[in-house]
Amino acid sequence: MTISFPKDIIKGIFSIPKEKDSPYAKAKLQRIIIQGEEVIQISKYTQQQVFHENISLDKLDDYLNNMLDNHFRSLELHTKEYLYAYKISSKGKLLTNKKQQKHEFVVLEHNKVKKYLIEEGMIVPPLMDLGIMTADGKIVKAKFDKFKQINRFLEMIEDSIANETKLKIIDFGCGKSYLTFVLYYYLTSIKKIDCQIIGLDLKTEVIQHCNKIAEKYRYDKLKFMQGDIAQFRKEKNVDMIVTLHACDTATDYALYYAIQMECRYIFSVPCCQHEINFQLKNKNIAPISKYGILKERFAAILTDSIRANILEYFGYKTQVLEFVDWESTPKNVLIRAKLESKKPSSVLKEEVEAWMKQLGFEQTLYSLCFKTKES
Ligand SMILES: C[S@@+](CC[C@H](N)C(=O)[O-])C[C@H]1O[C@@H](n2cnc3c(N)ncnc32)[C@H](O)[C@@H]1O
Repeated sequence: MTISFPKDIIKGIFSIPKEKDSPYAKAKLQRIIIQGEEVIQISKYTQQQVFHENISLDKLDDYLNNMLDNHFRSLELHTKEYLYAYKISSKGKLLTNKKQQKHEFVVLEHNKVKKYLIEEGMIVPPLMDLGIMTADGKIVKAKFDKFKQINRFLEMIEDSIANETKLKIIDFGCGKSYLTFVLYYYLTSIKKIDCQIIGLDLKTEVIQHCNKIAEKYRYDKLKFMQGDIAQFRKEKNVDMIVTLHACDTATDYALYYAIQMECRYIFSVPCCQHEINFQLKNKNIAPISKYGILKERFAAILTDSIRANILEYFGYKTQVLEFVDWESTPKNVLIRAKLESKKPSSVLKEEVEAWMKQLGFEQTLYSLCFKTKES
């Protein structure tokens, strides 16, 4: 039988899979507008993942008929005015129903539906174990800022890695590893990149916990290790390092590692840049240093600008970006760097040195890169 479905569908859901071992537990429909064109976005849910596809309105009848013929016994469709129900009985008989809609439904602009690469409702299984996501894919309210940061971090990475098919990544100072898990899930399950990730942190317990979760989901190429970034072994062929709020000089050790290992990509969101703040006593900055908060911010800006300049010196094309809004976290600066040329430019080093001398401070990344070698 071929059903002619209403043309003004706004949303809907397929449920009750026909086969016990069906790959999909349910599928949702949502009318959205992409670049001015109305399409129906289908989100097919397996136990662990969600797959999206957009169906043009002229192909929708065929698509829905095929889904009812082959995959699901039940379909509910909402239009602005009506709720339509289609059920296929165990004997293969079609039962239909049509009811007046209780609420008015609206069509969403695409950017309102999909703000993030990982949307709310999209099940990322380890995030449930980590207490950031509920079983139905909702983000725990208290964790929403973290969720937002992780999504923005992913977007920043996604922007840079077109054409990559294989990546080896280290997340330094991974902590509870929300980012590490989402990154692994996104790159392997959604982008289909052959991806290996190591998460490193000082804390033994979190590392053990994260390894258990990785094993539970058979994330074979995701490993967590306990250790100090400063002493971390020299891994071969690391393509990317990421850090999200690695404390104070931990960020410097991570950047130094990337420079030494000639990692092609760096994504680093620094945190609590105390090092220079504690040293700044110079009377040249008296108008700033008498206000604690300004001194702290000035020190953070100095720290990150030195880091960015040193990366440039080592041939990284470097950007310093605001990656989330200030309200989500004031630690919202991302250093994004891509290795382009291996020829250091001495001017940048001299500029950094002049600045350090003038204001009278030492900086860990600078010392790691130049002091030990020169002394
Ligand atoms: C603020 S947490 C951030 C955790 C995680 N990246 C996130 O955004 O949720 C900083 C983490 O860096 C780790 N850390 C600090 N210094 C480190 C070092 N030298 N080596 C390894 N991990 C370090 C801490 O143990 C902590 O878990």
